[in-house]
Amino acid sequence: MDDKTLIEAAKKAREFSYSPYSKFKVGAAVLTSDGKIYGGCNIENASFGITNCAERTAMFKAVSEGHRELDALAVIADTEAPCSPCGACRQAMAEFKVKRIIMANLKGDTKVVTLEELLPFSFSDADFQ
Ligand code: THU
Repeated sequence: MDDKTLIEAAKKAREFSYSPYSKFKVGAAVLTSDGKIYGGCNIENASFGITNCAERTAMFKAVSEGHRELDALAVIADTEAPCSPCGACRQAMAEFKVKRIIMANLKGDTKVVTLEELLPFSFSDADFQ
C-alpha cells in the first residue's frame, strides 16, 4: 500500500467533516496490519470539548472493527504546511503503536514521521504495569 492511496482515503473522508464551528475540515485514514483502510473526519459539537478529531475517528473505527495493529495513519487538511496531529491524537496513536504518520495538505505537501518523533517520552501502559 503506497502513501498516496492512504492520503487519498484521508482526503475522501475529509469531505464528510462535520465542522460547522471551526469550519476547519480534517480527514484521516488508517492502514491496518492486514491491509484494510478506515477513514475518518473531525466531528464537532455545540459543546466544543467533545469534538472528535479526524485521526481518532479513523483509529476508533478500525479498533471497533477488531483491528488493533495499525501500520500507518494519514491526516490531511487545508493547511500551509502538512497537517500536524494534536496532542490528544498523538497519545491515542501511542496506545495502538501506529508505526508511520503521514501528514499532508491539499497542495500536495507531505511529511512522514514516526510516533517517537511526534511524541517522545510518551506515557504508556509500561509506566504502570
Ligand atoms: N482537528 C482534527 O481533526 N485533527 C487535528 O489533528 C487537529 C484538529 C479538528 C478538531 C476541530 O474540529 C478542528 O480541527 C479545529 O480544531
